[in-house]
Amino acid sequence: MLPALFWAAASSYAFTFVSALGSTCSSPLGAGTAAAGDPYWLQSMDHRNTAAFNPDPAGYKVFRNVKDYGAVGDGTTDDTAAINAAVQDGSRCGGSIGLGTACNSTTITPAVVYFPSGTYVVSSPIIAYYTTQLIGDAKNLPTLAASPSFAGIAVIDTDPYIDGGSGAQWYVNTNSFFRSVRNFKIDLTRVAGAATGLHWQVSQATSLMNVVVEMSQGANSQHQGIYMENGSGGYMGDLVFNGGKFGIWVGNQQFTVRNITINNAVTAIHGAWNWGWTFQRVTINNCNVGFELETGSLDGVLHQTVGGEAIIDAVVSNTPIFIQSSTATTSLAGSLVLNNIQLTNVPTAVGVADGSVVLAGGTTTINSWGQGNVYKGSNSAGTFTQGEIVAANKPSSLLDGNGHIFGKMYPQYETYSPSQIISVRAAGAVGDGKTDDTQALKDIFAKYSGCNIIFFDAGTYVVTDTVTIPAGTQMIGEVWTVLAGKGSAFQDVENPKPVFKVGESGDKGLTEISNIIFQTIGPTPGAIVVEWNVAQPDGVQGGAGMWDSYIRLGGSEGSEQDLATCPWTSTNNFEPCMSAFMALHLTAGSTAYLEGTWVWLADHFMDGDGWTKLSLFSGRGILSESQGPVWMIGTGSEHHTLYQYSLVNAANHYMGLIQTESPYFQPTPVAPTPFTARADWHDPTFGGDFTSAYGLNIANSKDIIIFGAGLYSFFDSYTEECTKDGRNNCQTSIANIDSASSVTIYQLNTVASVNMLNIDGTAVIKQADNPNGFTSTVTVWSQ
Ligand SMILES: *[C@@H]1O[C@H](CO)[C@@H](O)[C@H](O)[C@H]1NC(C)=O
Ligand SMILES: *[C@@H]1O[C@H](CO)[C@@H](O)[C@H](O)[C@H]1NC(C)=O
Ligand SMILES: *[C@@H]1O[C@H](CO)[C@@H](O)[C@H](O)[C@H]1NC(C)=O
Repeated sequence: MLPALFWAAASSYAFTFVSALGSTCSSPLGAGTAAAGDPYWLQSMDHRNTAAFNPDPAGYKVFRNVKDYGAVGDGTTDDTAAINAAVQDGSRCGGSIGLGTACNSTTITPAVVYFPSGTYVVSSPIIAYYTTQLIGDAKNLPTLAASPSFAGIAVIDTDPYIDGGSGAQWYVNTNSFFRSVRNFKIDLTRVAGAATGLHWQVSQATSLMNVVVEMSQGANSQHQGIYMENGSGGYMGDLVFNGGKFGIWVGNQQFTVRNITINNAVTAIHGAWNWGWTFQRVTINNCNVGFELETGSLDGVLHQTVGGEAIIDAVVSNTPIFIQSSTATTSLAGSLVLNNIQLTNVPTAVGVADGSVVLAGGTTTINSWGQGNVYKGSNSAGTFTQGEIVAANKPSSLLDGNGHIFGKMYPQYETYSPSQIISVRAAGAVGDGKTDDTQALKDIFAKYSGCNIIFFDAGTYVVTDTVTIPAGTQMIGEVWTVLAGKGSAFQDVENPKPVFKVGESGDKGLTEISNIIFQTIGPTPGAIVVEWNVAQPDGVQGGAGMWDSYIRLGGSEGSEQDLATCPWTSTNNFEPCMSAFMALHLTAGSTAYLEGTWVWLADHFMDGDGWTKLSLFSGRGILSESQGPVWMIGTGSEHHTLYQYSLVNAANHYMGLIQTESPYFQPTPVAPTPFTARADWHDPTFGGDFTSAYGLNIANSKDIIIFGAGLYSFFDSYTEECTKDGRNNCQTSIANIDSASSVTIYQLNTVASVNMLNIDGTAVIKQADNPNGFTSTVTVWSQ
């Protein structure tokens, strides 16, 4: 897996390498040693996980191999009951069908449901309960084959509808977190009629990756790869859909999709509704229509259609129409951004269902084209445009060899054998949510970073002082292993301290973190939850990154910031309810590839009723001072007091899409209370238009490309009236950029902020000029 170049450099500078890592291991991890016929290491290794806050941590099984529950996987036996028994084992959190009692969410019953390679026939849906990862053998993908008599919404269902036609479901679609499905083929071809691969109705902290859906081909196919009717996502990528009436059929507030291929479908992507979506590197071959979009309604309360699609680096061939909206657009109702679109034999690039052509295609490349309102600099007047729009300068450090925005799959280490993977519990860490694992983790990193893949068995590992994850660490968790900072080291808001440092300042080294949650156990007003210092090795793009990993503050069992301590009704109960000084800091020397990173201060308690709100306080979301390259692909930052994203003295960032929410309690107390804005931390200023959090702040930064942004404000002192009846004034301003920065924002969507963008503190773009359904949309702003 490691590029040869890097190892050559590492061995000729062995002293530097070892001292930078602080590692004493004798033999650096080389290539994977798994033999071709071996199963994936996750299957064969000893399972030592724990669910720290489960009432029965000793008896509760986190890892379940479906074969241990009677699944056969021989291509003929109906394995539905056995697979669902594996999912349900242990009082899981599910709805009112079958086992379990009604439950909106939980963090105390995490499960990995593992499928060895084989073909598993199912006749009704496999239900992916809350906090479940369905994982197939990454070396040899198992097949989930729908039987000819398959009945149900989809082969994998993340949120069942409850019978009775009321529309009621197991989980609240916008709070449906913590679901992952990876490494499967889903085969629908045995079903003559309608069938769907995944009912993927999900929100943040979900991932769908490395999945192939096989469907029948031709005009009469009634198959579809994904049905997603609502939710608040999310990231998915590295997916292939072959055949079908629809490759994917999707409606969701926002989503980021990277690297999907759709071959031989009637319609590759049907967009039912959204506020904004980003599609990075979509390949479409031999379909009738690429994107078929429901558009035209500006009444987002009664009928929300597609607010916008931002599409970058698509490659489309032999498809008559790339994009087709249902209605002709003469004003903003369906914003489009097309950036670097390569068409081969695609006669219509953008068309309308009535047959009219907005942009002719052919065999050509569309450099930068947009539909919607275009703004520039501090000019407060936008222009409705259907045509060429500004093409952001793309620094080459962000691009792969084909000129596309670089992307890198979640590393699963499938070529490695169990002897190359070290279990942290085997190596002395406890992970029970109580024991202080600070020294154990330091010892493990010192001994194994760079020499083994470090596997964090499921559990909650508590640290009471800063732990450095050394440059050169490749670590992977198990159903979002929790690493939590607690105690006296993190109390001083005047002198904040990192809980986890990823590398020390100046370090370079292949560093990969996946399947992890970083959190605090409160109160921790002086915690910088993750300080990211590491840079990718020279010539190794994406060599310092984090996949499907989250920063989650409060709101979970064991976080000590729960309904009893921090009820929403007490918005001045600061001391016990301070969760962090800052969630994530990308320091000046770092580079970062962040895919699916959600940086969330909890707004509700996930255990218990999964609904009642909390009042917690975290100072800052994500601060980047990095010179890049930084890729933030499908990231979100929510409910931090001062800002969600702030870029100061930063350069060379690709961010798409970014999603934010302001704290629900603001402006009571007014921002930045209970924190203070500090110049030494490059905080933005408050007062005037800014009495609530910044969704986005950018100062003195260059070559920043934001490819999709959803900056939302839903509450005014906990009341929702401000989003209703045309008021749209939950806060005055939500984004500020200084005039010294060079930034391009494509598809800026805001909710209920009177101003969409301030420059140097002065309001420039007004929400009232850009209504687009529930949100307001600027198709591009550049400076
Ligand atoms: C989710 O989408 C379905 C299908 O369009 C719709 O019937 C339902 O009302 C939606 N639910 C919510 C809570 O928006
Ligand atoms: C894109 O996805 C496919 C299918 O999962 C995978 O084989 C390929 O390596 C991915 N490419 C990138 C750049 O991630
Ligand atoms: C789930 O959340 C809903 C609100 O959407 C609430 O009415 C219901 O009581 C909750 N269910 C449970 C079992 O706590």
